[in-house]
Amino acid sequence: MSRLKIGVFISGRGSNLQALIDAAADPAYPAEIAMVISNRPEAPGLERAARAGIARRVIAEPSRPGFAAAADAALRQAGVGLVALAGYMRILDGGFVAAWRDRLVNIHPSLLPAFPGLHAQRQALEAGVRFSGCTVHFVREAVDTGPIIAQAAVPVRGDDDEDRLSSRILQAEHRLYPFAVRLFAEGRLRVTGNRVAVSGAAAPEEAMLNPLDALASPPD
Ligand code: GAR
Repeated sequence: MSRLKIGVFISGRGSNLQALIDAAADPAYPAEIAMVISNRPEAPGLERAARAGIARRVIAEPSRPGFAAAADAALRQAGVGLVALAGYMRILDGGFVAAWRDRLVNIHPSLLPAFPGLHAQRQALEAGVRFSGCTVHFVREAVDTGPIIAQAAVPVRGDDDEDRLSSRILQAEHRLYPFAVRLFAEGRLRVTGNRVAVSGAAAPEEAMLNPLDALASPPD
């Protein structure tokens, strides 16, 4: 079976990259990581790629078009069919986003369109929402926009601070990203306007409540 080749862009820690590396370690997973590109030479995620024997490129090109041209050439040479942003913290060149339309995905730590941009988990805490979570979406030119492929909802707890909420959302990210990439690789996604149809998938019917058990144990 020939597997879909993915290019992963990182800027930092690379824990989502690691989740994709771990998923692709299973030969039955329908995608493999052909190349990791970082805009920062010191990104710890590069070490993860090295340990997994994956080709790495550092493109520390300050101009957006300069980065895009170098990345585009490297991705095409490697036969990449999907680009996955995994903690890539720069805005991409508009021409690059257009050239890779519907073959370029991102993960973001909120239930988009709520809380785009930086510090999404802090924004969620400040807004007092009962659920936050994470989103994998096709990339469009405006930051953290584009048709949504999959989301995971994470309850916000009364004792959450930014670190605690971030780490529970991150655990959900590590499940969601390999899942969404699998759907793409299996050819199950169809984009129409701002909506993505997923063939052979059903959403749960029931609502979840947060707090769930406030009536179960009345205050003393
Ligand atoms: C992740 O939480 C990811 O969702 C977020 O950066 C973190 C990267 O962690 N991305 C964004 O906020 C993009 N707007 P990682 O480097 O360990 O994968």
